[in-house]
Amino acid sequence: MPKLIAFDAYGTLLDVYSMGVLAENLFPGQGQSLCVLWRDRQIEYTRLITMSDPTGSTHYQSFWDLTIAALRFSCKRLAIPLNQDQEAQLMGQYAKLSAFPECQATLSQIKQAGIATAVLSNGNQAMLSKALQANQLDTLLDRVISVDEVRQFKVSPASYGLLTSHFGCAPKDILFVSSNAWDVIGAGWFGLTTFWVNRQNLPFEEIGPKPTYTGANLNDVLAALPT
Ligand code: LAC
Repeated sequence: MPKLIAFDAYGTLLDVYSMGVLAENLFPGQGQSLCVLWRDRQIEYTRLITMSDPTGSTHYQSFWDLTIAALRFSCKRLAIPLNQDQEAQLMGQYAKLSAFPECQATLSQIKQAGIATAVLSNGNQAMLSKALQANQLDTLLDRVISVDEVRQFKVSPASYGLLTSHFGCAPKDILFVSSNAWDVIGAGWFGLTTFWVNRQNLPFEEIGPKPTYTGANLNDVLAALPT
C-alpha cells in the first residue's frame, strides 16, 4: 500500500472540458483548435522556463501568468481577435473549473483507508486553492503543493522531490496519479509509483517508463491497489 497518493490537478482532478465549450461559444468553429494549442503552449512555456535554468529558474513566472501568455499567443497564431472581456471570461472559467464527479468519493475513500492525500501541480497556490475550495476538495487533501516552492515546473526532479520532502517518504511509497502521460513519465523517472488516468483511451507515449497502473477514471485508483 502506498503511504501517500498524490494527484496532478488540471485534467486529473479538475475537468478542463468546460474550457472548450466556452471557447467554442466565443469563437464558433475554432474553440477546439484554440484549446488544444493553448494547452500545448502552456506546457511548452513551463518547459522552456525550467530548461533555461534547471537550478534556479531565473525566468520563472507563475502558471497563471503563463496560461494567460499561452492564450494570447494561441489566439494570435490562429488569427482570433481576443478582446479583454473574452480573455477575462476564459481565465475566469479556468479559475473555477469543476472537479470530475468521482473526485470527492475517491479522496474520501483514500483518507478512510488511512493513506495521506496531496496535490502536486504546476499551478500556483492561489489558483489551486481557489479551484479546490470551490469544489470542496481542500478538506480532503492533507497538502496542496505547488511547484512554485522550487520555481521549477514538472517534469524537473526537484518538482517531484517536493512530495518526498513534504511527506518524508521514499519515492516508491508514493502513488502519483495524473492524466498527463508526460507527467506519469516524469514521475516514473523520479522513482514514484504511477497511475495514469486515461479517460480518452489514448495510446501511452513511446518513451519513458510505462505507468505502474492505468485506469479510465479516479474510481479505478483504489481498485488497482493490492489489498
Ligand atoms: C498540473 C498540470 C500540468 O496540474 O496539469 O500540474
